[in-house]
Amino acid sequence: MCGIIGYTGSESVKDVLLDALELLEYRGYDSAGIAVEDDEIKQAKVYKCAGRVRDLRAICESEKLLTSCGIGHTRWATHGGVSDENAHPHQVGKVTLVHNGIIENYRELTADYDLGDSLVSETDSEVAAALLNRFYEGNPEEAIKKTVSKLKGTFALVILFSDHPGEIYSIRNVSPIVATLCEQGAMLASDLTALCRFTNRYFVVPEYHVLKLRRDGICLTDLDGKEKQPQYLTVDWELNNAGKNGYPFYMEKEIMEQPDAVERTIAERIRGGLPDFSADGVPDELFTGCDRINIIACGTAMHAGLVAQALVKSLLHMHIDVDMASEFMYSDPVIDKKTLVIAVSQSGETIDTLEAVKYAKKRGAKCLSIINVKGSSIARESDYVLYTNAGPEIAVASTKAYTTQLSIFYLIVAKMAHLRGVFTTEDTQSFVRELQRVPEVMQRVLKERREIHVLASRVLEAKDLFMIGRGLDYSILLEGSLKLKEVSYIHSEAYASGELKHGPIALITQDTPVVAAVTQEKLRSKELSNIKEVKSRGADIVLFIKESLAGDVDSAYETFLLPDMRDEFMVMPASVALQLLAYYVSSDKGFDVDKPRNLAKVVTVE
Ligand code: G6P
Repeated sequence: MCGIIGYTGSESVKDVLLDALELLEYRGYDSAGIAVEDDEIKQAKVYKCAGRVRDLRAICESEKLLTSCGIGHTRWATHGGVSDENAHPHQVGKVTLVHNGIIENYRELTADYDLGDSLVSETDSEVAAALLNRFYEGNPEEAIKKTVSKLKGTFALVILFSDHPGEIYSIRNVSPIVATLCEQGAMLASDLTALCRFTNRYFVVPEYHVLKLRRDGICLTDLDGKEKQPQYLTVDWELNNAGKNGYPFYMEKEIMEQPDAVERTIAERIRGGLPDFSADGVPDELFTGCDRINIIACGTAMHAGLVAQALVKSLLHMHIDVDMASEFMYSDPVIDKKTLVIAVSQSGETIDTLEAVKYAKKRGAKCLSIINVKGSSIARESDYVLYTNAGPEIAVASTKAYTTQLSIFYLIVAKMAHLRGVFTTEDTQSFVRELQRVPEVMQRVLKERREIHVLASRVLEAKDLFMIGRGLDYSILLEGSLKLKEVSYIHSEAYASGELKHGPIALITQDTPVVAAVTQEKLRSKELSNIKEVKSRGADIVLFIKESLAGDVDSAYETFLLPDMRDEFMVMPASVALQLLAYYVSSDKGFDVDKPRNLAKVVTVE
């Protein structure tokens, strides 16, 4: 969590920092701050406040900041409440610093080095600034080395030293930092999103290496002072991909981008109508040599895993578990050399998923990850990676990352079924052909979005809501329900519809709308009976049903017809419809759709 930017170069530093912070705000939006060098006072000037980047922008607006170097931060509060004092940057003596991560031993350090008097905030980060200042005797590298040798926990530190103008220093452990040198100068950030306005080349700063930025050069050294060459990567994310492109919110833009994102994700991985991961360097043996699968992920990515689980069970009849990454290690999972672990993560930085991957690898499992951000920590930790080509996802609520993750899972399932003789070549090709129809089918749902907007008005006033379905429909609704609750603040619960009468049906009243999904032929009649049960207890029904299954469905239900696909693929149109439902409820309520309260997009604390 927490967004970080550092820039030294020829552009207006204030604008570069504030624009970058706006893009990084999805990492946390409790407070924001920048520090820019000021030649006159030979010390960085700090501007910071609780609230959003737009509040910070207002504070700095009238300031003429003539400088070529500065750092910035958006905060998701961990240690210390949401206040101006606790906002970053923190300044102690000659040191001005921003931090992402958690310094676990900050209390001990404060006591051991008697730092208390120099602290004005309640943050662990300010302790790191005070310690650095204590050790600083004019040589930044030495002070940094000495400081990090005392720190326990995770950190990405970005530092200005007042007597080293034009220079930005950084060091990290676990928490990510990427950097680049480009035409406009040198810059670093917690995420690629902030850099891709300037360049498509970047490198991941290795852990425990000191990075020094000057406007015309970058110097990377290990802790022995040995210079290292940065390993540059390229990304095909375009600048306009990271703008709103005329949409009021990123979430809407990203929902609309899904047909293209799915197309980009699958196109290069289909040869002769069959799935082909050779360009990704993923060998077939990975899929034939395992006898069980374990998917680990958090949030929406975990929901993509649940859909995969349903597909693997029904099509491959294999043993497959899906674990919330945060629970994985503590549940004594059955993992061995024959287990294929699949980690799923948009950011590739979620710490629980990262730790789970490390744990699984220690237990001998091979790890394949499905990731959106190239070169991210989980990608680097994994044996193999299949990148989703979703492009930058900025809205906190994940949409196109989810459907591109699902697309990869469909390819994996097809590949495994083919390799294991469950599908003939023709079966596999026909399955893949259906996957290739997904972009066009999604497009049809998007075209009808006004109808979904009308349905959204039926649930707008609800305090509580249920989403019900069976089998794959239940998996789809778990994600639909998460989407709705995170952006609309309506308490929404997805429930397996057959299970509802074992308790939760007691909560159904005329004030509890029920959203139902019916997309699987074999479950249709049972699902419709379950819907009747809640209807007869007064609930208003909003129904998403596969067109060919709609038949004589009750006209009292508010119904949206989902374009037909094979049952296994109905997840795709249904998910788009449910994302739109959540989006419209949130925007009609006047909420900041892209930045729901208390959330952050990249969760780097356990
Ligand atoms: C946060 C985000 C979710 C996301 C989850 C996992 O909770 O708000 O949208 O699904 O983290 O993130 P990852 O980057 O690992 O997919």
